[in-house]
Amino acid sequence: MEYITLNTGARMPLLGLGTWNLRGDTCTSLVSEALQLGYRLIDTAQMYDNEKEVGQAIAQTSVKRDDLFITTKLDSRSNGYQQACEGIVRSLDNLNLEYIDLMLVHEPYAHDCAMYEALVEAYDEGKVKAIGISNYDEKRFEQFIQNVQPIPMVNQVECHLQFQKWALHQKLKAHGTVMQAWSPLGQGKIDIAKEPVLVQLADKYKKTPAQIVLRFMTQRGVAVIPKTKHIERLEENSHIFDFKLLPEEMRMIQSLDKGTTLFSWTEY
Ligand SMILES: NC(=O)c1ccc[n+]([C@@H]2O[C@H](COP(=O)([O-])OP(=O)(O)OC[C@H]3O[C@@H](n4cnc5c(N)ncnc54)[C@H](OP(=O)(O)O)[C@@H]3O)[C@@H](O)[C@H]2O)c1
Repeated sequence: MEYITLNTGARMPLLGLGTWNLRGDTCTSLVSEALQLGYRLIDTAQMYDNEKEVGQAIAQTSVKRDDLFITTKLDSRSNGYQQACEGIVRSLDNLNLEYIDLMLVHEPYAHDCAMYEALVEAYDEGKVKAIGISNYDEKRFEQFIQNVQPIPMVNQVECHLQFQKWALHQKLKAHGTVMQAWSPLGQGKIDIAKEPVLVQLADKYKKTPAQIVLRFMTQRGVAVIPKTKHIERLEENSHIFDFKLLPEEMRMIQSLDKGTTLFSWTEY
């Protein structure tokens, strides 16, 4: 596993398992499998309605708590200071944890600064080890950081082959905020298996197109949280740290950027 250092000094795995759309026993057993395969970061959210199932897998694992990195997110039910305080307690209860490694404001809600204030308090109390935001573009990020302290440690955003977000990444880096990519594989909406550049590089490195994409992102310093419900893909997605793309190969993949979203709901 490779790590990226947050502005708290904590290390966050560059690769994690996304759990959107994983429910019930399937969720618990996939998270357990992932932990056995060496995943250390699990990404959940109140919105995914699976924090308890993630918590069950954590309770069953032999991996030390210190080695795990658990992310969750406050959604619109926590749109206010008091509601966010309650939301933090709810996630701790659901996950059955004494602390959460990273807690995000899921989207730019009307009362996001008040929600963040609740996160800052939880951070000061040690209930949450790092705090951040999700789905903030450059303009919203700039506005948000005028009003909050400390600067968010992570901004989790849509980022994949077609929407690579280099300018946002630069801006975040300049402020010490790590960019984490959701839908790094384009949620299956991009046929990466047929993309000639990826196929060529996959052939060269004896990897799959998915592994080339995940390597490209992490080599940029963008953290990724691909989701799969297939154990063989869990394993496949984890084997991305044993090869390195050349600078010209990075540029070839960069040229596939269209600068366009795959999800209309992200346009606020
Ligand atoms: N903050 C936010 O607003 C936000 C929004 C969306 C997502 N997220 C987080 O980001 C995580 C990842 O995003 P995502 O689930 O939307 O999309 P994703 O990880 O980009 O893609 C998942 C899709 O790719 C397939 N897949 C996985 N590994 C593959 C491989 N090696 N080869 C080919 N196909 C593969 C999966 O199919 P199978 O399952 O059938 O293998 C699934 O259809 C989510 O689970 C969630 O934790 C956050």
